Amino acid sequence: MELEGKSVVVTGAAAGIGNAVVELFLDNGANVVAVDTQGERLENLCEEWADKPGRVVAFVGDVSEEATTDGMIDAAIENFGTFDVLVNNAGVMDDNTAIGDMSDEMMEHVFAVNTYGPMRAMRKAVNAFVALNPDAEEDDETIGSIINIVSVGAVHQTAGASYCASKGALLSATKNTAFMYIHKGIRCNAICPGGIITDLPITMPTANDFGFSRTSELLVHSSLLGMPEDVANAALFLAKDDSHFINGAVLNVDGAWTVF
Ligand SMILES: NC(=O)c1ccc[n+]([C@@H]2O[C@H](COP(=O)([O-])OP(=O)(O)OC[C@H]3O[C@@H](n4cnc5c(N)ncnc54)[C@H](O)[C@@H]3O)[C@@H](O)[C@H]2O)c1
Repeated sequence: MELEGKSVVVTGAAAGIGNAVVELFLDNGANVVAVDTQGERLENLCEEWADKPGRVVAFVGDVSEEATTDGMIDAAIENFGTFDVLVNNAGVMDDNTAIGDMSDEMMEHVFAVNTYGPMRAMRKAVNAFVALNPDAEEDDETIGSIINIVSVGAVHQTAGASYCASKGALLSATKNTAFMYIHKGIRCNAICPGGIITDLPITMPTANDFGFSRTSELLVHSSLLGMPEDVANAALFLAKDDSHFINGAVLNVDGAWTVF
């Protein structure tokens, strides 16, 4: 059990990648606050996970609201007495629109969930790590770890302008945070999944014809798809203390889709 006793918050926990991260972390002895908007599905999963080595607490909320991004970290501290790892995973796709067709509504919604929510959670997490470790010395080993589930779309044009820009901004915030707290024992890394088999294509809005005709050209570089567990394994590695010297890194989990 590689995360025994660690207190973790995982967003987007009721499906896909987030679900796999929670399960793997619980199996490795972590205590997890599992966050999602889908209350019933989340509560059912938490009942199924009750016999795992780690404890799980359901937190129903929308990460685009500060009450959720603050409240979920407070819940970890209240329930488990400490807080060690934040996995910012919840995210939404756009409709593949190029910027000429993009609506303000789509842009604002995608940024609210994919960028502003995770950044508010990072702010809360960093301040909690420092407050919970008042005796930490400069250059101490990890006092807290942030793992952002970004996307290869942060760098490659796998979706519309809103999605790619929202993930690009989150990637920058990841590196900025790693840099700012380099001597404070706070690590911040990004995982960039490629095509992973989840509900995301089902829940995404109907694709814009022009935008989709452009993004689908990238599929010529790979037809390989990964599983949520492939991403969860990468998150486990970054959550462990063994990866203490890995900070500000971008780990692609894309089956080499983007090496062209
Ligand atoms: N699946 C892929 O191919 C892929 C590729 C690259 C990046 N990603 C990223 O991985 C992350 C997870 O994606 P997934 O494929 O598992 O998606 P998914 O749709 O299968 O699951 C996402 C979960 O997040 C929850 N969620 C959505 N909006 C939320 C909000 N505002 N507040 C709280 N919870 C919310 C959903 O209810 C759902 O349970 C996302 O950030 C996504 O951008 C996925």
